[in-house]
Amino acid sequence: MTHDQLVIVLTTAAWSGGVGLGGGVILWLGRRASLRWLMVGVATTAVLAVVAGTVATSRAMFLSSHDLGVISLVAVVAGIVAVLVALAAGSVLARWSRDLRDDARRFGESGSFVSEVSGPVEFTELSEELRRTSERLAESRARELALEQSRRELVSWVSHDLRTPLAGLRAMTEALEDGLADDPARYHAQMRAEVDRMVRMVDDLFELSRIHAGVLRLSPQPVALGDVVSEALAGADSVARARGVRLGGRVDEDVLVSADPAGLSRVVSNLLMNAIRHTPTAGVVEISARAVPDGVELSVTDACGGLSDEDISRVFDVGWQGSSARTPDHAGATGGAGAGLGLAIVKGIVEAHLGRVAVSNHDPGCRFLVTLPG
Ligand SMILES: Nc1ncnc2c1ncn2[C@@H]1O[C@H](COP(=O)(O)OP(=O)(O)OP(=O)(O)O)[C@@H](O)[C@H]1O
Ligand SMILES: [Mg+2]
Repeated sequence: MTHDQLVIVLTTAAWSGGVGLGGGVILWLGRRASLRWLMVGVATTAVLAVVAGTVATSRAMFLSSHDLGVISLVAVVAGIVAVLVALAAGSVLARWSRDLRDDARRFGESGSFVSEVSGPVEFTELSEELRRTSERLAESRARELALEQSRRELVSWVSHDLRTPLAGLRAMTEALEDGLADDPARYHAQMRAEVDRMVRMVDDLFELSRIHAGVLRLSPQPVALGDVVSEALAGADSVARARGVRLGGRVDEDVLVSADPAGLSRVVSNLLMNAIRHTPTAGVVEISARAVPDGVELSVTDACGGLSDEDISRVFDVGWQGSSARTPDHAGATGGAGAGLGLAIVKGIVEAHLGRVAVSNHDPGCRFLVTLPG
């Protein structure tokens, strides 16, 4: 580079740099203005920087005054064109951003984000991000709605389930009071049974509310799964006999799991009782437990005749009891229907242990599979 060129570069750099800096400061101060004016500001700064450089070089005698006049004229025309282009580009940008704002506003009102905004990648990214947010919002709204729905159902189901035995109790006490009961001892026994059932139900509700409130206190310790299963089998034996259901169990020796003993036996006995209740006379209920690489697996298989897809998706819902469970016939047939809380409690306890529970059809019935981390 020759000496002259060096001087030109330095002079221009100094002057244009100064103008650029000034323009930058003004743009910064006006950063809250519309995109359109910011674009105009950028274009004007660019043109003024060229003009400043040109004037400076002419002052340093590198340009004749005639050349300066020509260049100035060119700069003025080019500047006007640049500002117009900037104004147009700024308007388009401003319109895109206004459209995006309107879409976002509609998103706020309707809860779903639909946008056709194109434009620079930043805009499409923003729009894509809003679309994803709207999807997540819709999902959580659906979850909330389902939860709300099941809460409402629970209240109506539970009040239904409490009203029936209470009406029975009232009728029986009235009969006893009026001396109309021909067999008071039978009435007493039946009242006792009804009260026991309601106590069980209230206990279940209480347990469930503790699970949902997240205050379920677990004291995990090494538990021999074989012992828990044997205990549950012993506890269910009389019911199984009464219903003519055969119980079978196979637990691998020495399967240990770290779990809350009371919680675990509740899980096993709830599953076992359900299986017995849904297995016809002479059917078989099979319970087995084994160690798997990532913990232990406990399965209860019955002969319920299979569950529909809808049943499978709802069995763990709080209060859900299948379509026919709340009719008096069914309640009688199963020796006093429950309240549809058993499996919700099973799920709550298993998940509090960081485990999983699932149900699948398994000829001639279904299988509940609990997996607990070792
Ligand atoms: N082993 C099973 N085989 C077939 N259906 C089952 C089985 N276990 C549960 N179900 C279905 O799932 C529903 C919910 O079961 P859950 O244990 O939660 O309630 P419940 O047994 O009806 O009452 P609770 O357990 O509160 O006394 C049952 O009413 C039944 O329809
Ligand atoms: Mg149950």
